[in-house]
Amino acid sequence: MKDKFLFPAPLAPRRHSCPQEGSFTVYLAADGFLDDLLTELGASVLEVRERLVLASGAPQKAAWAQNIWKNPRFLPIASIGEAARALSSIQRNWHLHSIDWHRRAALIQQKLPHVSARPMTFGDAAPSAPLGSWTLWDQNLLLASPDCTSPFPDGMVAFHENRTDPPSRAYLKLWETFTLIGKHPVPGELCLDLGSAPGGWTWVAASLGAHIFSIDKAPLAPNVEAMPNVSHCIGSGFALDPRHVGQVDWFLSDMICYPDRLHEAVTRWIELGNCKNFVCTIKLQAETDHEAVARFAAIPGSRVVHLSCNKHELTWIRCAEDV
Ligand SMILES: C[S@@+](CC[C@H](N)C(=O)[O-])C[C@H]1O[C@@H](n2cnc3c(N)ncnc32)[C@H](O)[C@@H]1O
Repeated sequence: MKDKFLFPAPLAPRRHSCPQEGSFTVYLAADGFLDDLLTELGASVLEVRERLVLASGAPQKAAWAQNIWKNPRFLPIASIGEAARALSSIQRNWHLHSIDWHRRAALIQQKLPHVSARPMTFGDAAPSAPLGSWTLWDQNLLLASPDCTSPFPDGMVAFHENRTDPPSRAYLKLWETFTLIGKHPVPGELCLDLGSAPGGWTWVAASLGAHIFSIDKAPLAPNVEAMPNVSHCIGSGFALDPRHVGQVDWFLSDMICYPDRLHEAVTRWIELGNCKNFVCTIKLQAETDHEAVARFAAIPGSRVVHLSCNKHELTWIRCAEDV
């Protein structure tokens, strides 16, 4: 049992008693971003094991969590069979996030109904059946939550990829976003794609039949620029004045820029009220600007998430229905 505590002991003391059900939440840090999650959760952190963070209180918004176990409880068990029965008695579908006693945990998982981990085809709806998460916290102690924020194992969405048409893998960010929000651009809608080159996002939205006005300092890949519903302009996305653009259905930005500059721009678009939906990547420098992230999260009706293929960046989403 090594590497149990990656967080300095004074900040996350080892607990000798388990917190009561209803008094805590478990957060799974996005891979590589445990420190960012710990900063986000602050003084509520109780204990850390690998990427799992126990924090006091009800679930709170946490952009750096890949998944949140909303209703966790500790369950003492005496055997593998008893563990499987305990989980099955709560609900059908469980995902094992193994942190220790891997063999024993795998034997328990084998006794539970199989949950498909096949990649999705873009366009399919996100799974609607609840997927619980569990781990073996101690040899004879389960930590399990039937409710999680994500219906995907560990919050990771895998797709059957298109390795021929999109010119960059960035298209996966839009595929995941549209799957999570359950809607996407449709024919007749207008999308602005700022910071669009080489064209993965533009390719996604244009393939869905919307018209795309794309802007970048660089050109699009020829196969994307040639799509009939794509108009590309070489320039800066910040030069576009929302007062001179009519009604826009989707404001998409994957521009490499300081978060505050992007925040200023989207604030202007929101104030003017002529754009319905926003999907923007918040690009972060070596040192995460948590205050800037919090300013995005504070925009009413919006959320900030770490998508499966986001690296040191977050995705800010605001849909017309949520405002
Ligand atoms: C991560 S890439 C975008 C990838 C793109 N979304 C795709 O799917 O292929 C970031 C892009 O932002 C562009 N960029 C940076 N600053 C910009 C600005 N002020 N205006 C427009 N584009 C900008 C860069 O030229 C670069 O092509």
